[in-house]
Amino acid sequence: MSPVVKILSFVCLCAWLLSSECTGRVAAQTLANANLYRPAFHLSPEKNWINDPAGMVYADGKFHLFNQYNPQSDQWGHMSWSHAVSLDLIHWQELPVALAEENGVAIFTGSVVVDAANSSGFGVKGNSPMVAIYTGNSAGLQTQNLAYSNDHGSTWTKYAANPVLDLHLENFRDPMVFWFAPGKHWVMVVSLATQHKVIFYNSPDLKTWTRMSEFGPAGANAVPNWECPNFFPLPVVNQAGTTKWVLELGVGDNGPAAGSATQYFVGDFDGKTFHSENPDNQTLWMDYGADFYAAQSFSGVPASDGRRIAVAWMDNWNYASKLPTSPWRGQVTVPRELTLQRTSAGIRLVQAPVRELESLRQEHVQLRNASWKDLQAMLASRDWPQTLEIDADLQVENTPAEAAQEFGFLLRKGGSYGTRVGFDSTWNTVYVDRMHSGDLLVSQGFNQRHDAPVELANGHLRLHILLDRSSVELFAQNGLATITDLIYPRPFDNVLSAYATGHPPKVVSLDIWTLKAPSTTQSSGLPLR
Ligand code: FRU
Repeated sequence: MSPVVKILSFVCLCAWLLSSECTGRVAAQTLANANLYRPAFHLSPEKNWINDPAGMVYADGKFHLFNQYNPQSDQWGHMSWSHAVSLDLIHWQELPVALAEENGVAIFTGSVVVDAANSSGFGVKGNSPMVAIYTGNSAGLQTQNLAYSNDHGSTWTKYAANPVLDLHLENFRDPMVFWFAPGKHWVMVVSLATQHKVIFYNSPDLKTWTRMSEFGPAGANAVPNWECPNFFPLPVVNQAGTTKWVLELGVGDNGPAAGSATQYFVGDFDGKTFHSENPDNQTLWMDYGADFYAAQSFSGVPASDGRRIAVAWMDNWNYASKLPTSPWRGQVTVPRELTLQRTSAGIRLVQAPVRELESLRQEHVQLRNASWKDLQAMLASRDWPQTLEIDADLQVENTPAEAAQEFGFLLRKGGSYGTRVGFDSTWNTVYVDRMHSGDLLVSQGFNQRHDAPVELANGHLRLHILLDRSSVELFAQNGLATITDLIYPRPFDNVLSAYATGHPPKVVSLDIWTLKAPSTTQSSGLPLR
């Protein structure tokens, strides 16, 4: 070989090596990005964009969860319903798209009911059909529409005579439908979003709807929207014999943590009209974090179970399109059991992760009647994975009034990075502080601390925290205050520690469990019929 050819071959070889190394790196990086923030125990789509949960229903032994979904990309658009099913609220199997955009009509948020008596006539051969009631969105027009399934939700047929409700309005959406047994009819709650009103309709057959009443704006003028209503009765746990109705609404913007948020009213429903008991139209927030929106709850949960189980989109319209994940964008909260509790301030919603999540617990570390120093030493003594459950009962000792007190847990710490979850005695709040969580998403007001007011119970503070790869859910004071926030920490920041300024609290009890990933999105391998 001539020296010239040798040199040329050498140059070619170098170029090839460089390019293959480069390709390898890119591939590895894409893989890392895909999995870095992929939640271990929260539902996320295998690929593409999701927003609001919709159509949540329990039927034939399975929980069905649909989401606003773009089958074509990881940005909002071409709204359709994705579909996932679960036997246990933990392992989810993603199924093909249930309802797709068609002829310029996108499928916006709505609900699904099991039409047990086949009032709609959609059932074949004595079947109780599943019926979806959704908003059809086309240019300048939102209407309410039906689709049905006679094969347990596997395939759906749009009703030929759609729409079933058309007020010729641009902002008329998100129907939530349920069977009102005392009146033997269906009820729909649907939002006139920009007017801050919901309308209540009834129907014998899901096809013809009669207007009964409306509710709103009930003081909600500082927020741009009311959307995604969810409406249900719940017993008040500490007031035997009392049941109240809860009306939840997404407010679009201007929530307590900036951006999207969910407010609720507690009151009575006589089958026609909802009467709120929130004093002076006081705004009650369901969650004080930035990432809890468009909450819905399962219909059809058997009376033998009796739980009201809610799921929210764990996201915020302020930055949803910018989340640093690929090839998927969007996830939902863990399923939460809702109860009502009478407090000194009035009746309040209380939230707890569903008990099924306990099946993910692996290693268990505990402390009883320990000092803050003991706690710090224990946390420093081992490595922690990125998926944890922390449950602490802390006794706040009396401190001189001037000694401001702040304490809590520092999650995913590394260098000056970390997410603080703690208590601030100056304001009497618990908080999630993601100001220094990471650098990947710093615009749109992402890097903030989010506070929720709490009252200590005889000096006790309970912090119950779920940490997944890209989220923190805090249930404080047994779920009376919750804060839900996304986080995007650096992958190698994995230290868990505890901090305190002023007088630290006593650790009455602390339990930490590492949590395993239940393979949430792709086929779970569970025997689904
Ligand atoms: C709320 C919302 C709903 C609407 C859907 C569209 O997040 O704006 O009101 O149905 O998203 O994707």
